Amino acid sequence: MERTLSIIKPDGVSRGLIGDVIKRFEKNDIKIIAMKMVHLTQEDAEKFYAVHKERPFFASLTEFMTSGPIIPMILEGENVIEKNRSLMGATNYKEAAEGTIRRDFATDIEKNVVHGSDSPETAAVEIAFFFNQFEMNER
Ligand code: CMP
Repeated sequence: MERTLSIIKPDGVSRGLIGDVIKRFEKNDIKIIAMKMVHLTQEDAEKFYAVHKERPFFASLTEFMTSGPIIPMILEGENVIEKNRSLMGATNYKEAAEGTIRRDFATDIEKNVVHGSDSPETAAVEIAFFFNQFEMNER
């Protein structure tokens, strides 16, 4: 069993897409074992996206990610890192496959509705960023 971090970004929350995103996880045998709504500070966002610090879109990305509440979730399932990435589709929604979350809902390369960890190492770090052991529910 694998775990990954998913985030419904501020655009997904403000546009009323929480249910649509969660439905896709549940319909695809992915278990949500932790979930909350948080509003990141600028400092938190810069820490979370530290790997992108040198990218030209870093300032815009952290501004966007602090513009409203987000929903971080821990997803659990077999091969869930890859499964979540294929449900999300490519970062650029214009390149995302038909039927993916980003293709169906994203409006911009930045405002792409969801985030998902890209490897087991990243998943461990990203999960620990948002959740402690008492917030993870075996079920
Ligand atoms: P995410 O999967 O959360 O990882 C980094 C985020 O930066 C990405 O989704 C987008 O929201 C944003 N991003 C990635 N590439 C670009 C880009 N070229 N221009 C603007 N934002 C980007």
